[in-house]
Amino acid sequence: MLTLGVNIDHVATIRQARRTVEPDPIAAAVLAELGGANGITAHLREDRRHIQDRDIRILRETVRTHLNLEMAATDEMVRIALSLKPDYVTLVPERREEITTEGGLEIAGNLSRISEVVEKLQGEGIPVSLFIDADEAQIEASAKIKAKFIELHTGTYANATDETTREKEFAKLDRGAQQAISVGLRVNAGHGLTYWNVYPVASITGMEELNIGHSIISRAVLVGMERAVREMNLAMRGEFSSSNS
Ligand code: PXP
Repeated sequence: MLTLGVNIDHVATIRQARRTVEPDPIAAAVLAELGGANGITAHLREDRRHIQDRDIRILRETVRTHLNLEMAATDEMVRIALSLKPDYVTLVPERREEITTEGGLEIAGNLSRISEVVEKLQGEGIPVSLFIDADEAQIEASAKIKAKFIELHTGTYANATDETTREKEFAKLDRGAQQAISVGLRVNAGHGLTYWNVYPVASITGMEELNIGHSIISRAVLVGMERAVREMNLAMRGEFSSSNS
């Protein structure tokens, strides 16, 4: 069954805009689960620009579905993950100056570091997902270091401004997913997915989980969290139209 992981980072982004206590991403996670989220995703960034250490500690205790901790492959984050024990970790590249995660991890060129982190986490029973572009060499490298999952970066597909590019990018995602499955990897996807572009990605054979943040939180500001999550689940089945409510 295809599942939906709701990324609540941007609830924390609104809170941090005023360094106050509202809105609380913990409340958002509870409401997302009530709306049908199968998992909650939070990215603890090195610069703590949105999610804070307190948030992931409380999420660990309150999330009733599963908690996916997104993080960079740094010593500090590995220490936090080992003590927190999220249900799985997604390793992402991180640069301070970026607005959001830009591009997938370069696994092939950082094999020993990524492999060391994957081994440490998986050795303690925390499955690891590697956020990568749908690129043959990255998929091969991910299988080589025995990560349990990859998360295919859907940003280029989502940002395509014409149909030809979108179709080409979609074909890469589909091909990448099938290659990954054939070498024993489990496949998730995410980044830039919206109510209007999610269906083709949701329909890729073998796709397990979609991690979606910005589009859901944006809609939640207007219609409420539970409804926004419910409608994304409809969109993933090709049953969403703006008049559904
Ligand atoms: N997956 C990964 C690895 C991400 O870094 C992000 C953004 O934090 C997402 C999914 C969600 O992307 P979006 O907010 O564009 O839905």
